[in-house]
Amino acid sequence: MIFYEPHARDRSLLPHDPFKQLIAPRPVGWISTMAINGDVNLAPYSFFNAFSGAPPLVGFSSEGFKDSASFAQESGEFVWNMATWDLRDKMNATSAPLPRGSSEFTHAGLETAPSKLVRAPRVAESPASLECKVTQVVRLNDLTGEATDRYLVIGQVIGVHLNEAYLREGMMDITLMKPIARCGYQDYAVVDKVFSIKRPPGGGNQAGGG
Ligand SMILES: Cc1cc2nc3c(=O)[nH]c(=O)nc-3n(C[C@H](O)[C@H](O)[C@H](O)COP(=O)(O)O)c2cc1C
Repeated sequence: MIFYEPHARDRSLLPHDPFKQLIAPRPVGWISTMAINGDVNLAPYSFFNAFSGAPPLVGFSSEGFKDSASFAQESGEFVWNMATWDLRDKMNATSAPLPRGSSEFTHAGLETAPSKLVRAPRVAESPASLECKVTQVVRLNDLTGEATDRYLVIGQVIGVHLNEAYLREGMMDITLMKPIARCGYQDYAVVDKVFSIKRPPGGGNQAGGG
C-alpha cells in the first residue's frame, strides 16, 4: 500500500491528486440561481450531496466564492437540476467561466423553465429539479481553524419537479433518467444499471439514513 499525507504525495508517481478520484462517483449538483438584479446562472458542482431526508437538505461547495454561491446567498435560493447522460455535453458547457450577466443556459443551448416557489429557473430538459431555500452558507475551516476560501451552501428543498415520463410503478426509474456522476478530472460514471439489497431487519425508522 502507498501512504502519504495530502501535502506530500510523490508527484512523480501521482502527478494528479487521487483525492477527487477516491470520493467517487460524486453526484452532480447542477445549480441554477438568479441574482437580485435578475442575472441567471447555471453551473455544475460535484462537491454536492444530500445531507438529510427530513428536512430534505442538499448542499454544494464552492472553491472560491463563485457566482452560484454568491447568487444563492444574496437571493436565498437555488435550484438543483439532475444532470443526465443525454445532457452531459450541455452540463459540461455550463462550467465555462462566463462573465457575470451572460447566462450559461443560452451558452449551452438549454431552455429555462419557470420554478414555482423560487425565482431561479430550472433546466427544462432535466428530468428532475429541486427548488431550494438557503439555510446556511458555511465558510469552511481547515485543521488549524483558519477560514478557507471554500463555501458550503446548504439549502432545504421546498419544491420538487419530476418529469412523469420517467415514473414507473410509483418510482422514478433511475436507469431511464441515466444521471451522471463525476469520478475525478474528466471522468464520469453513468447510472444505467442498479442492484438492490434489503437492509437488515430491526433498524426501523430510527436508523434513518440516505
Ligand atoms: C462536473 C463538474 C463539477 C464541478 N464541481 C465543482 C465544485 O464542486 N466546486 C467548484 O467550486 N467548482 C466546480 N466545478 C467548476 C465550476 O462549474 C466552474 O468554476 C463554473 O464556472 C462556476 O460557475 P459560477 O461562477 O457561475 O458558479 C465543476 C465543474 C464541472 C465540469
